[in-house]
Amino acid sequence: MEKLHAVITGIGGYVPDYVLTNEEVARMADTTEEWIVSRTGVRERRILNEEGLGTSYMARKAVRQLLDRTDTDPLTVDAVICSTSTADYHFPSTASIVLGRLGMTNAHAFELSAACSGWLFAMEQAACMVESGRYKKVVVIGADKMSSILDYTDRNTCAIFGDGAAAALVEPTTEDVGWIDSYMRTDGQGLPFLNLQAGGSVAPPSYFTLEHRMHYLHQEGRTVFKFAVTNMSEASALVAGRNGLSRDNIDWVVPHQANIRIIDAVAKRLDMPMEKVMTNIQHLGNTSAGTLPLALWEYEKQLHKGDNILFTVFGAGFTWGAAYMKWGYDPR
Ligand code: UT7
Repeated sequence: MEKLHAVITGIGGYVPDYVLTNEEVARMADTTEEWIVSRTGVRERRILNEEGLGTSYMARKAVRQLLDRTDTDPLTVDAVICSTSTADYHFPSTASIVLGRLGMTNAHAFELSAACSGWLFAMEQAACMVESGRYKKVVVIGADKMSSILDYTDRNTCAIFGDGAAAALVEPTTEDVGWIDSYMRTDGQGLPFLNLQAGGSVAPPSYFTLEHRMHYLHQEGRTVFKFAVTNMSEASALVAGRNGLSRDNIDWVVPHQANIRIIDAVAKRLDMPMEKVMTNIQHLGNTSAGTLPLALWEYEKQLHKGDNILFTVFGAGFTWGAAYMKWGYDPR
């Protein structure tokens, strides 16, 4: 039997309309536009500011577009994986809400929690499912409403993140395209440096947790920065090396969008010119699990069948990794 490869056959995305500018951030927190741009690269970000709407709203919009663009009958989808750190609820899963709203009722749906690395980790799962021959259509969502866990008076965190969602359809092919190699890791050492302390089973919501602002994202930026640069650079160099990839044959690098200085450092390590590095941090900020699929969504028209794409991610946990994929289709 011919080997099945798992290939992305379409991308859908959604970002909210509201643009939160650096000027507005600087009115809420003790920061300046100049600091934010020079230290992070973020110029603006999108925020889902309508009351009562959560991550599933953005994910649903992205998947709706994905199903339309790929002419996919929702009833033919076999599985829906949603990677997010800002689920609508502890349970049921955001994935199940999206599945229900869009009528993908011949599938099973579940969440995958790996913070900013979530979408790439979920792609690894989807690829294994499809390569096994048991799954024909898997929807892989990366979605986060980071504004729901940010303290807009905390200058250390509020300027960096934004909201957004995107999703890929993963299907089998016998052609020489699709998911080829990956290196994914978690070390369990990252907890003190990047976390959301309250609201889980260790510190359920209480007056104490509210008073101590424990429902907001906490990050020790400098430590996370160092680990991100080192681990993303090493993982992507490793995957590139063992697949004979270099600046001559890599068409695109798609790095997690946490800070333009991290992206620059990873590009330098790979000796890649920035024209071949996808970025959206300037206008979307760090959308956590959304950064990679949103980048593919925005660059889709520039992608060609057979393009060599190197992904790399880093997130809370710590989680990190890199993956090599050949793009599956020409611009539609
Ligand atoms: O996506 C998940 C993974 N996340 C990441 O990879 C993020 C990695 N970290 C970063 O991107 C950067 O560390 C930050 C952007 C978060 C911070 O930049 P930094 O250059 O590393 O700043 P720092 O944390 O070392 O802080 C330096 C100074 C501090 O002031 P003092 O203590 O030296 O007086 C901060 O309070 O910069 C201050 N600072 C700010 N000042 C103005 C931190 N944030 C701001 C701000 N505006 N927004």
